[in-house]
Amino acid sequence: MLPTWRINLVFVALAACSLTAARTFTVHNACPFTIWPAVYTDLKVGSAVPNISTGWEAPPYTNRTFWVPDNWRAGRIWGRRDCNFTQPDVTSCLTGSCIGGLLCDAANGSGIPPASVAEWTLEGVNGTDHYDVSLVDGYNLPMTITNDKGCPIADCPVDLGPDCPAPLKGPFDSTGYPVGCKTACFANLDGNQANSPNCCSGQFDTPATCPSSSVQYYDFFHSRCPNAYAYAYDDLAALKICPGRLAASYTLTFCP
Ligand SMILES: *[C@@H]1O[C@H](CO)[C@@H](O)[C@H](O)[C@H]1NC(C)=O
Ligand SMILES: *[C@@H]1O[C@H](CO)[C@@H](O)[C@H](O)[C@H]1NC(C)=O
Ligand SMILES: *[C@@H]1O[C@H](CO)[C@@H](O)[C@H](O)[C@H]1NC(C)=O
Ligand SMILES: *[C@@H]1O[C@H](CO)[C@@H](O)[C@H](O)[C@H]1NC(C)=O
Ligand SMILES: *[C@@H]1O[C@H](CO)[C@@H](O)[C@H](O)[C@H]1NC(C)=O
Repeated sequence: MLPTWRINLVFVALAACSLTAARTFTVHNACPFTIWPAVYTDLKVGSAVPNISTGWEAPPYTNRTFWVPDNWRAGRIWGRRDCNFTQPDVTSCLTGSCIGGLLCDAANGSGIPPASVAEWTLEGVNGTDHYDVSLVDGYNLPMTITNDKGCPIADCPVDLGPDCPAPLKGPFDSTGYPVGCKTACFANLDGNQANSPNCCSGQFDTPATCPSSSVQYYDFFHSRCPNAYAYAYDDLAALKICPGRLAASYTLTFCP
């Protein structure tokens, strides 16, 4: 039997846990090169933010764990490649740069395409966790979202750079390797991003008026990463859910 003071300590610990009402997230860099993860919260949707800086340097094969509030809304995490922050601006990284430099700006630092993005909306312990891997802003790193509660995996675990169709391929690093693959929207293939079937914008801004069949190169992204958003209305294929009462902890792995 535990001495009374130890039982009291256990109660104190349990009380502290229920008060913080947060999950642990782990961001794991399994890539054989350094990346610079970035975290952005859309503050127009919710004010709860994770207990982590909005950007950091992640050497190869390292990870970082932090607290995320149970009601984190419209949160996104992505990785930046080939960065040099000596003169921080939106071109500090070859892909995934943000306004702000190493620390992405809290209000405007949502990331610049092309970038693969992991997205979460947590609705609290009595709501539902929604999460996904999105290629709607293009591709720059393979990624997988796993969890500790047996909920579905969201992923785009393959390098889409080498096979990327020529009009979308790049940017390229100093060796000529493609470290990104743009979307037809971002590459502006139809010349009118404001009213475009590729962007699901203007008169094409609903699931009915923006079928995947009208998005150029949709099949390239979707066939290789059927578990990720290959365009804006891919919810059926890509949007994953987990009951909030399970309070799942998530791991985002780059280069799984
Ligand atoms: C995370 O929380 C701890 C403990 O409350 C605090 O000391 C630390 O500064 C926080 N870190 C960030 C990045 O907010
Ligand atoms: C995270 O890093 C720690 C030590 O740096 C290591 O023990 C642990 O296995 C790593 N976890 C993952 C998921 O890689
Ligand atoms: C970073 O950029 C600065 C110039 O802005 C350059 O002097 C420096 O050598 C670069 N660092 C690396 C590691 O490439
Ligand atoms: C950042 O966002 C604020 C508020 O939305 C805006 O006023 C400001 O102009 C933005 N700054 C930059 C550099 O985009
Ligand atoms: C979740 O729902 C249960 C049952 O309705 C309730 O007892 C509990 O207080 C709720 N928790 C939160 C954090 O709302």
